Amino acid sequence: MCGIVAYVGDERAYPILINGLRRLEYRGYDSAGVALIHDGELHLHKCQGKVSDLENHVNGAPMLGTIGIGHTRWATHGPPNDVNAHPHLSTSGDIALIHNGIIENYAPIKEELKHRGHVFRSDTDTEVLVHLIDDIQRTEKVDLAEAVRLALNSVVGAYAIVLLSRKEPDLLIAARKSSPLVIGIGDNGEHFLVSDATPIVEYTKNVVYLEDGEIAVIDRKRGLRIKNIKNQYKTPFIQELELHLEALEKGGYDHFMLKEIHEQPRSIRDSMRGRLNLAKGEVVLGGIKDYEQKFVNAKRVVVVACGTSWHAGLVGEYLFEDLARIPVEVEYASEFRYRNPIINEDDIVLAISQSGETADTMAAIELAKSRGATIIGICNVVGSSIARVTHGGSYTHAGPEIGVASTKAFTAQVTVLALMAMMIGQKKGTLTGSKFYRLLNELDAIPGKVEKVLTSEAHVKYIADIYKNATNALYLGRGFCFPVALEGALKLKEISYIHAEGYPAAEMKHGPIALIDEEMPVFVIATKGASYEKVVSNIQEVKARKGKIIAIVTEGDTVVKGLADHVIEIPDAPDCLVPLLASIPLQLISYHIAVMRGCNVDQPRNLAKSVTVE
Ligand code: M6R
Repeated sequence: MCGIVAYVGDERAYPILINGLRRLEYRGYDSAGVALIHDGELHLHKCQGKVSDLENHVNGAPMLGTIGIGHTRWATHGPPNDVNAHPHLSTSGDIALIHNGIIENYAPIKEELKHRGHVFRSDTDTEVLVHLIDDIQRTEKVDLAEAVRLALNSVVGAYAIVLLSRKEPDLLIAARKSSPLVIGIGDNGEHFLVSDATPIVEYTKNVVYLEDGEIAVIDRKRGLRIKNIKNQYKTPFIQELELHLEALEKGGYDHFMLKEIHEQPRSIRDSMRGRLNLAKGEVVLGGIKDYEQKFVNAKRVVVVACGTSWHAGLVGEYLFEDLARIPVEVEYASEFRYRNPIINEDDIVLAISQSGETADTMAAIELAKSRGATIIGICNVVGSSIARVTHGGSYTHAGPEIGVASTKAFTAQVTVLALMAMMIGQKKGTLTGSKFYRLLNELDAIPGKVEKVLTSEAHVKYIADIYKNATNALYLGRGFCFPVALEGALKLKEISYIHAEGYPAAEMKHGPIALIDEEMPVFVIATKGASYEKVVSNIQEVKARKGKIIAIVTEGDTVVKGLADHVIEIPDAPDCLVPLLASIPLQLISYHIAVMRGCNVDQPRNLAKSVTVE
């Protein structure tokens, strides 16, 4: 939530900030702003809307400077408007600050600072930080870095901040707690500060991940110094970035979401690469090697996640229970953290997150960790906060996911969960030789089958055109495909703003069936497998009430074809792997409906890609 980019170097500061903000726009697009120092003056430009609105806003202004900060906002405190846009200024206008996170105790600090003569211009929590730092610097007569350190000792909440001062035009100061901040180190004393590494990939591969409670002081002449909130300095640990520019571009597709849907044969393959070994008949997950025995002995696994990652976790529950015979509880991270859950040292907590930054998931991990549980992460973003706080884990390797609606991250998460469940099942002896080898081969064949599913796009688009004006939709599935129904409904509602609900197919008759009439599209996952006949009965029940059935069926199915209004065929696969195939036509249908409705597919209203606030 909110994207931060800052730069000190040469006169390219403005283009670097703007390009960086464009890359980070998926984190929030309520407003955008930049502040640059040039010729001893601080120049501030900010406005409601997207980065393109900011560019129009500054149109004609010279935008010079070799040091600057930029921000793209997802509103928390105060509506999206020009004054609430970041950067925020101190009363004198000398200091400018950008922030990602929430300052929870901002109200009393604001009152106090107002009494002390500071002039507040916005409704944001952020603004207290810039006034507080300014106040401390004046009253304590300390330098800016020390004022930042003292100020942060008195705020409660989450933050990644960067600030600059007109009086010290060669200095950027940054700090983080619970919100991400990456430092890029370029040539000739050039430095970048960014919420994630995507804005800097074309400039440098050398990065330092700022840790919680750390303050970075970047001086044009002295370079980077890092200290903690207790004023202890440390040597920066420079890492090499593994990210390529092509992964951040649309590559000829109209939207990132469509590109990411089509990338799935590759991203699923990448999730398995070096892990699934057909020749040796084994699954090796290096990142959890030390915890294999713990899994084998585990009395239960608790999954914590949000949104799409929670849906993947639900598929994980079915996989772990079926293949490894370990009881699994799947928890919304936001509920788990606030309800005093029973967690002990024998528990394994599996934290699933594409971004690795989701605040609720992070807090759930901290709670479980404090109670002695072993925390295993499944994250996509390498070096993300969640990946770094977990004891062990497996990256999904899906590559950057930029569309706000999660697609390839979901299938990569399910792939990693399938690998984990299979590996543990084999080690535990709950997955016997022939079944293990068959599943290994089936999983290996999934990328090819996904390619085949993607060839049905024209047909899916035809169906999308018929239902694009629906106001409600139901999604039904059973067993492994119940989470697919939930995920299908989430995809439709978040990008096309059509109200949609996912249900276990059999639950329909306990209430939702009352909604069905001739206007209601009902998407049903009705593939051949354990629940096939039951789902066919559910389809009959919908048809009897004149609902419109769009069914995802196994290739060659004739029974459902005779009942449904439309069918989309997918290749045959074992029940436990069907989510990897059945989710894809549902992603495509949501995408095409949203495009036909004129919605902003990659940046749906009110949403942001990584939710770093509660
Ligand atoms: O980065 P995370 O996987 O932790 O994000 C969790 C949810 O915010 C995310 O999956 C969200 O539901 C997606 N926008 C859904 O498409």
